[in-house]
Amino acid sequence: MLKITGSKKNIENCEFVSFITDLLKSDEIQNLKNFKHHIKTTRFQHSLNVSYYNYIVCKKLRWDFVSAARAGILHDLYFYETAEYVGEVRHNKNHPVVALQNAEKFGLNLLEKDIITKHMFPCTLKLPKYKETFVIIVVDKFCAIMEFLAKKSCPKKI
Ligand SMILES: [Fe+2]
Ligand SMILES: [Fe+2]
Repeated sequence: MLKITGSKKNIENCEFVSFITDLLKSDEIQNLKNFKHHIKTTRFQHSLNVSYYNYIVCKKLRWDFVSAARAGILHDLYFYETAEYVGEVRHNKNHPVVALQNAEKFGLNLLEKDIITKHMFPCTLKLPKYKETFVIIVVDKFCAIMEFLAKKSCPKKI
């Protein structure tokens, strides 16, 4: 069963999921269930939440909601616990680059690459090129707050 944090509705058969089904089935995305994110949830659930709200907002605005959904599920595709990160470059600047490297195998368009690499703007200094990238910058923060305020949710593998 697939759910968005804060909702009891099963979204498995929604149009939204049809755009990311291949990604959801991949070992890489399934592996995100093994990592904590924003204290109370998993990186899988957070990525699903961001993908869903990217889709909702971009569809409403008649922008590229398919790329927004796909980049949303891939935007935090890194495989280490955030709290354990040690590196010369700060995590907020580093993980979008790592996520892009890990996501390249799925065949990304230019918009999806922009969304993934700049979702932490202004931490990532380069300006977003596309209007859809500005959506994830807001949606990512919104989801982080929502996840923190929600009850603990750790979904099982689909
Ligand atoms: Fe991120
Ligand atoms: Fe995120």
